Amino acid sequence: MCLTIPAKVVSVENSCAGLPVKRITIRDSKGEKTINALPADIRAGDWVLYASDMAVEKISEDDAREILELLEPKRYIDISRLDSAFLEILKACHTRELRREEIIRLLCIGDDAETNALLSEANTIRQARLRDFFCIHGIIEFSNHCVRNCLYCGLRRDSKDIRRYRMAPDEIVNSVYDAVNRRGYKLIVLQSGDDFFYTDDMLCGIIRKIKEKCRVFIFMSVGERSRASYEKMKDAGANGVLFRFETSNKALYSSIHPGQSHDERIALLREMKKMGYFIATGFLIGLPGQTVEDIADDIITTKSIGANMVSVGPFIPSDITPLALHPAGSAAMTLKVTAVSRLLMPKAKIPVTTALETIENEEGRRLGLSSGANSLMFNLTPEKYRDDYRIYPNKYHGKEEFWEKYGLYKEEISYKMLERKMFEAFESFEV
Ligand code: 5AD
Repeated sequence: MCLTIPAKVVSVENSCAGLPVKRITIRDSKGEKTINALPADIRAGDWVLYASDMAVEKISEDDAREILELLEPKRYIDISRLDSAFLEILKACHTRELRREEIIRLLCIGDDAETNALLSEANTIRQARLRDFFCIHGIIEFSNHCVRNCLYCGLRRDSKDIRRYRMAPDEIVNSVYDAVNRRGYKLIVLQSGDDFFYTDDMLCGIIRKIKEKCRVFIFMSVGERSRASYEKMKDAGANGVLFRFETSNKALYSSIHPGQSHDERIALLREMKKMGYFIATGFLIGLPGQTVEDIADDIITTKSIGANMVSVGPFIPSDITPLALHPAGSAAMTLKVTAVSRLLMPKAKIPVTTALETIENEEGRRLGLSSGANSLMFNLTPEKYRDDYRIYPNKYHGKEEFWEKYGLYKEEISYKMLERKMFEAFESFEV
């Protein structure tokens, strides 16, 4: 579902009898415009939420201001204090690809004024390119079994002290129905460890059943499977994949992913792209020995794969893994990476990841959304399993109701809007 933008109603036209919608003029930070309105009882002075050219509901002035503050933060930037070479880079991103050294320069910022300018530039690009395309997506973590042994992950094969679970196919399907039909979600990620208990037929059966009963975009996040598996899931109706390459540094990759091949992972992602999947990929920030050059390469790799969604989060130590004592990735770097990703990939979806929220809580959401990110991903795993999907401890949950109230309007128009926006933004993306 897409989060709508608040605006104040300036005037309401007398509607012609029989017409289902009214015409209203609204004012927001970009000026005034006349749009259609669904709610029947709109008056001048009211606040509404609108998306594209449709006001979808009335809201209170307090709520409108709270949302506006989140989406349109005021940062004071004194340009005269900024280094001219730095400003050149911010300007250059509008007309050409940034070079690796320029990306590194941006990621190395330590100065508050430059940081503010970078985050603000990313926010301006997000506003200009994707103004009303804020979305809330859901993730259902259906199994925490995993055959891999990644050193950073609490679900790794060698984690003996966790309670493993698997949701039955019908339970998964019903959780999606509930998220879509009752709560209004339009895009759901189905995630698990690399768990081959679920055969291709089972996963395809789940996807088909969901698609038969509700209109929803399904993203699979089920790890490294064969190309044939991904082809079958695409045929069954899966729309996207969420599959991070974790790091572009091959030596680092090998050191933390025993028995896995970096080349194969990247090759699989490229195949998925060719199959027509919407690609959500990215990496971890703060891995042992990771350098700022590595992070620049991570961003470049994400773009070169043709990512439609950039998924980047800080590493968070889990006490049951070999990296228990390694410090967490930095929130400040995560925000810079979010901003630089927006500079390089102006149309991509960039969610605020749960890992950033876990480090910074609600502030993480606010900071992420004002630094180039444009979506949130809420955890919809049934309560009884949630604590056991412990990739890392103390995952953040909070204020979901506030966001759902303004981001999840259930009507068909909401799905249509997302469909259209996805199509516009990604041209070749088919539903
Ligand atoms: N901290 C942060 N993110 C993690 N992931 C796995 N373990 C951790 C951790 N300790 C991320 C990986 C994986 C995604 C499902 O979770 O990037 O792709």
